[in-house]
Amino acid sequence: MKVLFVCLGNICRSPTAEAVLRKLAAAEAPELGIQVDSAGTSNYHSGASPDARSQAAARRRGYELSALRARQVRPADFQDFDLILAMDRRNLADLEGLAPAAARGKLKLFLEFGADSSTLEVPDPYEDGAAGFEHVLDLIEGAAHGLLRQLKASEPAA
Ligand code: 4NP
Repeated sequence: MKVLFVCLGNICRSPTAEAVLRKLAAAEAPELGIQVDSAGTSNYHSGASPDARSQAAARRRGYELSALRARQVRPADFQDFDLILAMDRRNLADLEGLAPAAARGKLKLFLEFGADSSTLEVPDPYEDGAAGFEHVLDLIEGAAHGLLRQLKASEPAA
C-alpha cells in the first residue's frame, strides 16, 4: 500500500502528514507495509526542507521532518501510488486536472478519513501563527488514525 499526501507547497501540511502516517503505521499497523511520500501541486519550494514552524510543531509531538525535501507531483505518481490524499479542495481539483482517468479513483480528501465529517480540509497554515500549525497536526493525527483503521479493516485475513 503506497500513500501520497499532496498540498500546495509540500513544506507544511503534506510533509507533516507523511511523517505522522509513517510513524503511526510503523507502530500500529506494521503488517500493512504502508509506504508514504508527499508532494506539492506547485514547484514553489522544490528541494526545500519543511517550513521551520512545521518542523518545530511536529518535533514537539515526536515527528521528525528535517530529512524531507519538497518535490512537485509528477505524472508517474498517478501510477505508483494506491491512494493520493489531498489536503484541501484546491489541491484535489488540481490533482483531478492532472490525473489520467484511470487514476481518478485514487484521489481523495485526506480528512474523509477524519472523525469530523464537517471538516474536510486541512487549512493552509503558511500565513498563520503558531496555532495554525497545532491545528494542522490535530487534524492530521486524527485522520491518520482513521485511515489506518480503515486500511486494517479492509486487509484480507492472512
Ligand atoms: P503547504 O503550505 O501547501 O501546506 O506546504 C504552503 C507553503 C507555501 C506556500 C503556500 C502554502 N506558498 O505560497 O509559498
